[in-house]
Amino acid sequence: MTPERLDVEQALPRLQALASRLWSTESRHHPGQLAWSCAYGEPQVLDLGPAFLLDDAWAWLESADWLEICGADPGSVDAVVTAALSEAAEEVTASTLETETVVVDVLARHGFAEVESPWFTHHHLDLTGLPQVALPEGYAVRAVRAGEAEQRAAVHRAAWSPTSRVTTAAHERLMTTPPYRPDLDHVVIAPDGTWVASCCTWLDDATGVALVEPVGCVEEHARRGLATAASVSALTAARDAGATTGLVCPRGDDGYPVPARLYRGIGFVPGARTRTYRLTR
Ligand SMILES: CC(C)(COP(=O)(O)OP(=O)(O)OC[C@H]1O[C@@H](n2cnc3c(N)ncnc32)[C@H](O)[C@@H]1OP(=O)(O)O)[C@@H](O)C(=O)NCCC(=O)NCCS
Repeated sequence: MTPERLDVEQALPRLQALASRLWSTESRHHPGQLAWSCAYGEPQVLDLGPAFLLDDAWAWLESADWLEICGADPGSVDAVVTAALSEAAEEVTASTLETETVVVDVLARHGFAEVESPWFTHHHLDLTGLPQVALPEGYAVRAVRAGEAEQRAAVHRAAWSPTSRVTTAAHERLMTTPPYRPDLDHVVIAPDGTWVASCCTWLDDATGVALVEPVGCVEEHARRGLATAASVSALTAARDAGATTGLVCPRGDDGYPVPARLYRGIGFVPGARTRTYRLTR
């Protein structure tokens, strides 16, 4: 049982297919999250490592010191983790959902120990319960269109950080990475025409789960319900495209509580949390 080693660009469709096949509210990976992790920056900046694949498990060195794992069979998970560790840095960190007990057990057998770290809580929403989109007067919300990567990247950076890795070139590449769909990527436009908030959703057709990633609103227009409106609008489009469940994974620790409040305000319900494990060799 020797895992296949592939560059992540080649491996991505298979990583996504297995994540989709194994998806439940107890598993960490969604195809849209994997697309975002692979393409939110330009390749030379992200410096992503290889993936190690079997039919029913994979391990991906997102970087030499960061390991992502997917699988439910203990032997297969052990094989892909063993292969990945042969190329990992001396200190390597992995994050899992606490419900992924097979992965947690394999990590423990390899000497990983849990560490204190910011953590994330997966939240779920039955999309039949979505509220209506509500906007302050003069603002509008709509889907992104082909050719708008520059404005789309700019509104992301304006909300997150001017040093964000989401450049125009990165966003152009992201827009060609399945399952990206511009009709599920929404922006809020201020009365003066400026783009001020955004929310991208990623629909996995096989499971009907629409992942929200990322959401942002620029500081000058904060607390007017604009991130909420972008999220509700994009999730409504995802529901119209066949999604039944929304998924979002905000921080769960006390260090950054605002996004979880925003999503719970839409109706998202908290589920399992992440835990972080580290191996030092
Ligand atoms: C988090 C962020 C998206 C909020 O955008 P926003 O447009 O101001 O959010 P909304 O106006 O829709 O607020 C929705 C709810 O979130 C909560 N909230 C938003 N900002 C808050 C703040 N500064 N303090 C406390 N609660 C806040 C409130 O519950 C709010 O509802 P209320 O104002 O009626 O009480 C925005 O601050 C941002 O882009 N931050 C940087 C990027 C980021 O963290 N994105 C989310 C990561 S998952």
